[in-house]
Amino acid sequence: MTLLDGKHIASLIRAELKQQVDQLLADGHRAPKLAVVIVGHNPASETYVNNKIKACAEVGIQAEKVALEADITEADLLQEVQRLNQDPSVDGFIVQLPLPEHINETTILSAIDYRKDVDGLTPENVGRTVQGLPSLVSATPKGIRELLARYNIPTAGRHVVVIGRSNIVGKPVAMLLMQKPYLSLPGMSAASLGDATVTICHSKTQDLAAICRTADIIIVAAGSPKLLTADMVKPGATIIDVGINRVMDGYRLVGDVDFDAVAPKAAYITPVPGGVGPMTIVSLLQNTLQAYQNHKS
Ligand code: GUN
Repeated sequence: MTLLDGKHIASLIRAELKQQVDQLLADGHRAPKLAVVIVGHNPASETYVNNKIKACAEVGIQAEKVALEADITEADLLQEVQRLNQDPSVDGFIVQLPLPEHINETTILSAIDYRKDVDGLTPENVGRTVQGLPSLVSATPKGIRELLARYNIPTAGRHVVVIGRSNIVGKPVAMLLMQKPYLSLPGMSAASLGDATVTICHSKTQDLAAICRTADIIIVAAGSPKLLTADMVKPGATIIDVGINRVMDGYRLVGDVDFDAVAPKAAYITPVPGGVGPMTIVSLLQNTLQAYQNHKS
């Protein structure tokens, strides 16, 4: 069994990004800039946002945190989105999810200029990704694809089972891995990616275990601790755990995979933390640099 060390791969990619940003500055250009909007004081969101801002600093991307109160109206938040859409010094921005109940997530995400949508969550970017057009690819799926690529894990012709049908992970990762490689986007190692046969499973799927046992690669993004157990895994499968669940003491993080039981059966497996999470953040940095370059040209 080999651990898919997202933390290590992400640090290699950050070093590559830092070189690119240093070169921009040496050539007399300004630094790229990311803005991060956070509404309210969800502790998990605050941690994620602080990690994103710290990662920006490491590679020389400027970061602005826009912290808004939980009782902000949808109209005022929309206005903030418009301000960031129009601010020429901001290359890309994200609105950290989840948003408070009284705010419609789709309304907010749809208002983001897709050229600045470095989380790749706007309907434009999702649609463009589906059609293989140049787009900003949603950060977690992009990170998963990169992790598979860096470990030379091929997807062509293989059966990928995705558990979870969210707009943020399940649907876009399924789309990316089944794409024809010639539709792949710049900056990725295309050799082994795409062309998968993908099955998307969810809470209403019947006999999830039987479907999983036919998978060469399982991507679990359901938000349910220990959902994937050893009996559901074919020996030699690759396991990607997107789950981040806080358990018992409120601090310990566990994924959606029963890691201790599944790991001995797997060929490759991501740990939680230190697997997919750092890759999501590094994808955000890559997308910010891409948005900057698109913006500049
Ligand atoms: N909440 C959890 N993950 C994410 C993410 O990747 N982007 C945003 N905007 N919110 C999130």
